[in-house]
Amino acid sequence: MKDGKKTLYSAVQPTNNLTIGNYIGAIRNFVALQKDYDCYFAIANMHAITVRQNPAELRQRTLSLLALYIACGLNPEKSAVYVQSHVPAHAELCWVLNTFTYVGEMERMTQFKDKSARHAENINMGLMDYPVLMAADILLYQTDVVPVGLDQRQHVEIARDIAQRFNNAFSPTFTVPEALFMKVGAKICDLLDPSKKMSKSAENVNGSVFLSDDKDTVIRKFKRAVTDSGNEVKYDPENKAGVSNLLSVYSAFTGKSIAEAEAEFAGRGYGDFKLAVGEAVADKLAPVQAEQARLLADKDYLNGVLKDGAARACRTAEKTLAKVYKKIGFYQI
Ligand code: TYM
Repeated sequence: MKDGKKTLYSAVQPTNNLTIGNYIGAIRNFVALQKDYDCYFAIANMHAITVRQNPAELRQRTLSLLALYIACGLNPEKSAVYVQSHVPAHAELCWVLNTFTYVGEMERMTQFKDKSARHAENINMGLMDYPVLMAADILLYQTDVVPVGLDQRQHVEIARDIAQRFNNAFSPTFTVPEALFMKVGAKICDLLDPSKKMSKSAENVNGSVFLSDDKDTVIRKFKRAVTDSGNEVKYDPENKAGVSNLLSVYSAFTGKSIAEAEAEFAGRGYGDFKLAVGEAVADKLAPVQAEQARLLADKDYLNGVLKDGAARACRTAEKTLAKVYKKIGFYQI
């Protein structure tokens, strides 16, 4: 806690192209919450390598994500914005927490099972250890809240379990964090298959809207979005998954409530509605894309942000790590 504010931690992996799901479920909320919390926002490049990456692309995507964070409204003067691998304490605490985590628990993680099925040729230890590294990320900063999308719920829960286990084995050491989900948009679904979450790595790119998509592409993707055989724009995730998903997107991008959006499209067909959603998204993305490109041309500035962010993150992380090392009996000089 700093200046009486609670601590917030979150991170995004610099892999593939980010989607509007990442924006709605995570980054948009980081921006909204940063004034109320002492914040740490990481670029999770150590998580990224659990799936093979092209090294040059990973480097490029790291800077690109930083520029995106800032273009979306994160203020690096207020919040620590940094790259995970720049703070060695993440890997160090992960090792200790590994000894407080059971193999069976990790084998049961939904994301591990999904990713093992998708990358059967490379089920590496990192993939299995992914949630422990995430627990280390969160616990190093004595985090109170972790704003994430619903797909990360299980990972935050295991971080809580590990924290409690360690606290019980020794004495209170870690703050037990809580996941923070937004009412609207904690799970944005694929436009072509609303039963699945929208993903950066979806097989069909037409189901995902990327933050880098131009206006024509965005509108084309929304026009093709799957709805249903009815004609009423109504929020009903059970029976109208496609339309409800589009309403969540519209609400997130316009700031209008779901009820306001339903009223706006009452009596109008799906065609009109889908076009309006596409336009709202494209109009909001255009200035973000322009600002991201402007920032990417200023590498000195971006490197400065990362140096400063890493220094701030290291200060807090090292304090927690020193406490942990002392409690577990590592001899200190
Ligand atoms: P990542 O990079 O997969 O996703 C980043 C954030 O975007 C959210 N998200 C979504 N939200 C709503 N609808 C969707 N379709 C959607 N797709 C993605 C994710 O829930 C996430 O909040 N393991 C994390 C990164 C991470 C992390 C952490 C997060 C590493 N360490 C510590 C919190 C705390 C991940 O892979 O996110």
